[in-house]
Amino acid sequence: PLDIDVKQPPMGWNSWNRFGCDVSEQMIREMADAMVESGMQDAGYEYIVIDDCWQIGRDDQGNIVCDPERFPSGMKALGDYIHAKGLKFGIYSCAGAKTCANRPGSRGYQFQDAKKYAEWGVDFLKYDWCANKGQNAQAAYLTMRDALDATGRPMVLSICEWGYSEPWKWGKGIGQLWRVTNDIQDCWDCEFEWEGVGVINIIDQMADLRAYSQEGAYNDPDMLEVGNGGMNHEQYKSHFAMWCMLNAPLFAGNDLRSMDKKTQEILLNKELIALTKDDNNQQAFRAIHSQQYDLWVKSMTDHQYAFAFMNRTAEAVDIHYDWQKYIIADKAFGWHQVKIKPTAKIRDLWLHKTVGSCNEPMDYQLKPFETLVVLVSDEESF
Ligand code: GLA
Repeated sequence: PLDIDVKQPPMGWNSWNRFGCDVSEQMIREMADAMVESGMQDAGYEYIVIDDCWQIGRDDQGNIVCDPERFPSGMKALGDYIHAKGLKFGIYSCAGAKTCANRPGSRGYQFQDAKKYAEWGVDFLKYDWCANKGQNAQAAYLTMRDALDATGRPMVLSICEWGYSEPWKWGKGIGQLWRVTNDIQDCWDCEFEWEGVGVINIIDQMADLRAYSQEGAYNDPDMLEVGNGGMNHEQYKSHFAMWCMLNAPLFAGNDLRSMDKKTQEILLNKELIALTKDDNNQQAFRAIHSQQYDLWVKSMTDHQYAFAFMNRTAEAVDIHYDWQKYIIADKAFGWHQVKIKPTAKIRDLWLHKTVGSCNEPMDYQLKPFETLVVLVSDEESF
């Protein structure tokens, strides 16, 4: 197998959440420009991924053809443009004969398509699961993995199978990330039969999957909705903070060309992003779960722990937390308890400052939907 360098959860931007089928080379180029100019690239965002609807059909030889009106310069030129910015190029296809937006999928053309992607300089393939009748998911994704590897070009494979056949059990070694739910919706608490799920519903589904997430193989709770307008600021902050706690791939899904200050403050929070750049590569576990709030704990290198107190509700919640209490981690991961030293300093990752130490209990009022994220550490280096 090829060496695919995703030592930490991949970061980037994807067209789907904000633009759906309204994609074009002009817009994608502008997004690459904005990724650099906004500071997103400096913060670690790397992949520019064109989701569904760039493809229009196949030529006489069966080669996949991009929409000539929307992508007149072709995919190779677009890949070159993205690479010239120091960014990486991502594309989308589907294991079925059709994509979810009814464009041609890769079924029966996997090796031919992979070869084209390699010619275009593609670095990342999001591979979907519509029109999947009669197919076995693991086999279908393995075929595409083999096809990508056969090109000799390392390409990340993003398994987008929505969690139906528990891809966390077979995805490692085939893809580098796998979706765990139906499509994210731009809302906090909502569940639709087909359309998808809200942020809190996804977070709840991630709770049991911690043991499957590891270096180079990540649970994917779907792309970010931050900045798309459906949630309030506190909800977007919690959405982003929790994705970082969950060691999730971070794919912005908003219009980077017109981000307001509040959106930038979230997506460019380097201290939160740093939670996903930790060599321990662990997804947080849920230490407390109640109707009102959750406590999630992420174990980091150098005896550091990130704690996220997440208000699940539209009411303020008072929390009282004794740092000297033992925390029991989930058994699936094979370790038992966490004890924080009283000398440990508490750093607030939204305020970017040290707010206390762990020798005394903390009283804090969480605003509606607020997530307080702190890093506790014995290090004096802050
Ligand atoms: C599926 C995927 C989405 C998006 C669309 C495109 O619904 O889960 O993330 O890629 O298809 O049609």
